[in-house]
Amino acid sequence: MDKEIIVELKNIAKRYYNPQGELEILKKIDLQILKGDRIAILGPSGVGKTTLLNIIGTLDKPTSGEIYYFGKELNWDREEDVLKLRREKIGFIFQLHYLIPEFTVIENLILPGLISKWKIKDCLKRAEEILNILNLSQRAQHKPYALSGGERQKVAIGRAIFLNPVLLLADEPTGNLDPESAEEVVNIFLKINQTFGTTIVMVTHNWELAKKMKRNYLLKNGFLVKLEKI
Ligand SMILES: Nc1ncnc2c1ncn2[C@@H]1O[C@H](COP(=O)(O)OP(=O)(O)OP(=O)(O)O)[C@@H](O)[C@H]1O
Ligand SMILES: [Mg+2]
Repeated sequence: MDKEIIVELKNIAKRYYNPQGELEILKKIDLQILKGDRIAILGPSGVGKTTLLNIIGTLDKPTSGEIYYFGKELNWDREEDVLKLRREKIGFIFQLHYLIPEFTVIENLILPGLISKWKIKDCLKRAEEILNILNLSQRAQHKPYALSGGERQKVAIGRAIFLNPVLLLADEPTGNLDPESAEEVVNIFLKINQTFGTTIVMVTHNWELAKKMKRNYLLKNGFLVKLEKI
């Protein structure tokens, strides 16, 4: 049986306008993201990887083209719907982790639950589950300054999956990590994909990480080129 397509990009283009003229970053992007997929997007600096990830995640609007979520075209005029979709179905991991410095690990983790008005008891139960997956139970009461770079990134991942999103988007999640921490983060992504069936789309410069994904694409001259067996 064919797997469900959760997101589809058709003919996506993105142009930026600035005083020097027009910049056509994305020319024609077509992409189908299937349930449970693991996709890596590679490419040199400045080609538009973050731009594309933000468009997939509804954080940025394409200049033209269509995006379908669960078979339905995204209507940018319905802001409430876009916001709801983003909050309930999509998790983001940015290159900089954006943890709240005054909060402990567990407080940072449960934030999405609190915003979604979950009961504290349910938040703590979910946090415990996630801390186990991340192998961070011993760090629950640490504040971000008292964590290593890899541990901070893991908390950011934990927060992004707190509400069990269908789609997890990660922008260079191992960019600032040493090889050992990077490998641990890679394994956590695989575990999340296997345990919860979460679809993962990531931008990475890390070929080792890309190898562990099911499909790899190179973003080049505004187009996505599928890479066979890297
Ligand atoms: N708001 C904006 N206005 C004008 N140009 C922009 C804007 N945002 C990004 N750009 C330009 O679009 C191009 C693509 O940016 P983007 O951040 O998507 O690249 P990237 O592939 O993620 O690069 P990196 O690997 O360095 O993170 C860059 O040349 C950037 O200068
Ligand atoms: Mg980028």
